[in-house]
Amino acid sequence: MTERLSRLRRMREQALAGGGSARIEQQHAKGKLTARERLAILLDEASFQELGALATHQSTEFGMERHKVPGDGIITGFGKINGRRVAVFAQDFTVLGGSFSEVQSHKISRIQDLALESGIPLIGLNDSGGARVQEGVRSLAAYGEVFLRNVMASGVIPQISLIMGPCAGGAVYSPALTDFTIMVDGTSNMFLTGPEIVRTVTGEDVDAETLGGAAVHNSRSGVAQFSAPSEHAALALAKTLLSYLPQNNNDDPPQVTPHDSPDRMDESLNTIVPADDGEAYDMRDVLDRVFDTESVLEVHPDFAPNAIVAFARLDGHSVGIVANQPMVMAGALDLDGSDKIARFITLCDMFNIPLVTFVDCPGYLPGVEQEHSGVIRHGAKIIYAYCQATVPKISVVTRKAIGGSYVAMSSKQMNNDIAFAWPSAQIAVMGAEGAARLLNRQALKEAEDPAALEAEFIADYREKFFNPYRAADLGQIDEVIEPRETRARLIRSLEVLQTKVQTSLPKKHGLFPV
Ligand code: HXC
Repeated sequence: MTERLSRLRRMREQALAGGGSARIEQQHAKGKLTARERLAILLDEASFQELGALATHQSTEFGMERHKVPGDGIITGFGKINGRRVAVFAQDFTVLGGSFSEVQSHKISRIQDLALESGIPLIGLNDSGGARVQEGVRSLAAYGEVFLRNVMASGVIPQISLIMGPCAGGAVYSPALTDFTIMVDGTSNMFLTGPEIVRTVTGEDVDAETLGGAAVHNSRSGVAQFSAPSEHAALALAKTLLSYLPQNNNDDPPQVTPHDSPDRMDESLNTIVPADDGEAYDMRDVLDRVFDTESVLEVHPDFAPNAIVAFARLDGHSVGIVANQPMVMAGALDLDGSDKIARFITLCDMFNIPLVTFVDCPGYLPGVEQEHSGVIRHGAKIIYAYCQATVPKISVVTRKAIGGSYVAMSSKQMNNDIAFAWPSAQIAVMGAEGAARLLNRQALKEAEDPAALEAEFIADYREKFFNPYRAADLGQIDEVIEPRETRARLIRSLEVLQTKVQTSLPKKHGLFPV
């Protein structure tokens, strides 16, 4: 027995040592932690229970029998984050570059299955050179096993991916199928084909950071929702993010003890919208004043900044915020803004997180480039996502809700539950200048002073339509409220909607306008 125990202990030690001290030093020299160090930071102390620590590959090609390390370059198991159960995997770059093997696939799949059956979130720490080249096509099939489970788990348990090193080739698609991707500035990359292949195929000379670093995926491609300045910060962010999410789709998001009065009025909100409606204001200032203090966590903050999506709390309850940002493109909706909003609405709906929408939007962005790039298809995503969402939905029109944006941004007719407007709201079918030209074409042609006639028409149109009262008359707005009372009104409305009956039509699935 003693001999058998010694053997087990030896193997466990080997598993703990990963690729060995020299490789660990190289990892540290790159400013990266090891997989085990990361898990120790992520999980509550002594909560980690490892599975598959002794699994090794069976390959013999390319001298692989000499490269056997218990665990095979990946650590999988269960642990707790702030007392909540989670499933985790962490790729170990010190073992064959964390390359993805059949054994890695079996270990991740096992954890995915257990996470799904137990209804607990899955967090993956990615640091890998992609498919293990020595295993050939076997490592490709292995990816399929993991992708399948990513898709099966989508909408059932939260899935969070952290990119903490390279994530190359097929490895990129597992994070892309999860709910959130967090990248570390400077040390993480995501690309299907690396700089060398890009150079060979297209002749473009590009380095790894420019091709697929955290900055480009957070601001341009939209592949990642968050970036963090360090690995510690990325792991802390994953924990914060989890605090807004439920364990699974049958659970409610966790409630924190409220630290902010539900009746708090903020007088400054009454003057936050500038009198000149061409002047911008920062919608984030509105959100910070309305929601529980310091509870707003922006998702995708650097991508499509004309739209804001964020988690926040109202009286300790998780909510999802969708808002236009008048500081960027006057808050107009474009291709990327539409994608960003639609994805977030769908995500909140699948995890029972009520939606609060703040509207100040002049409409969808006009232009040849937008039309030819499919603003109709992309814009339709917002409408589809709002119409499909059955969670409680409340909207607040702070200023412009003009044309398509009035309808698309959670209008009453699209199953919005409660619609508020501030007195500064302008709810109209189109902008005053456009309406003046459209309705007075002949009169303007014949007028002695067309500019004066146009100005007169614009003033009259604005007087008649640029307010919330017509919409309130028609019941399209439930209540015009003072901005300072927004917080209290939202909290009371959500209290009522807590028990909202949520029904969906029995269908396999619709065709989301992708
Ligand atoms: C096997 C790999 C590997 C891989 C790295 N290693 N990637 N082994 N398969 N995919 C090994 C290296 O040979 C090296 O071993 C060790 O890991 C560390 O790698 P380095 O290159 O020394 O590290 P670094 O300089 O930090 O560069 C990291 C890297 C680079 C940028 C990730 O290794 C790289 O470019 N790897 C290949 C990336 C790639 O093209 N992957 C796509 C695979 S095909 P030694 O013993 O020499 O130190 C694919 C298609 C799947 O994924 C499609 C599915 C849908």
